[in-house]
Amino acid sequence: MDRALKIAILISGRGSNMAALIENLKMHPKVKFCCVVSDNSQALGIPKAKKMQIPTCVIDGNLCSNQYVFEEKLDTYLQTHQPNLILLAGFMRLLSAKFVAKYKGKILNIHPSLLPKYPGLNTHQRALENNDKEVGATVHWVDEKMDNGEIMAQCRIKVKPQDTAQTLSQRLLPYEHQLYIDCVRKLLNQIRDTV
Ligand code: GRF
Repeated sequence: MDRALKIAILISGRGSNMAALIENLKMHPKVKFCCVVSDNSQALGIPKAKKMQIPTCVIDGNLCSNQYVFEEKLDTYLQTHQPNLILLAGFMRLLSAKFVAKYKGKILNIHPSLLPKYPGLNTHQRALENNDKEVGATVHWVDEKMDNGEIMAQCRIKVKPQDTAQTLSQRLLPYEHQLYIDCVRKLLNQIRDTV
């Protein structure tokens, strides 16, 4: 592991995980948030990142003829920042095997389920339909399959009788934020101070 983490964050939406990560870790001496990239021009996270003075870039997925075109543009932009850690935070796009291989071991994702349960969408609804007693979130290394790579850590909350998918999502969110922050801190603790 290098002696400092240059972190890029990829988002598609509101960016609450992104904001929590930046707010909690921006003063850490071994962290530099080098950029925030969105595949959605309307992502609410982009103005938030700008306000926090992080360089931003929108690569509108709808304007790219296919995934490879999108990833070429993403790769070209990332190369200008040379991140050694890429955090997917509500990034709603599956990355190709080629892209993942290029950034092997450098991409983390947060997913709102207790993987391997419920990869994909509507995780809380599916948990409710199965009468699960608890739901949670998982931070995992990214491979070419959806929500699939090696698990780094999980957090969980108990389901209450009155819960809906929406209340579960709201109640889980602060735990997700803390989980992602803790995972990055864990990586930071692995960086040695001496050469
Ligand atoms: C979070 O629930 C995260 O686990 C999932 O998408 C949601 C993104 O929320 N991958 P936000 O954009 O970070 O607010």
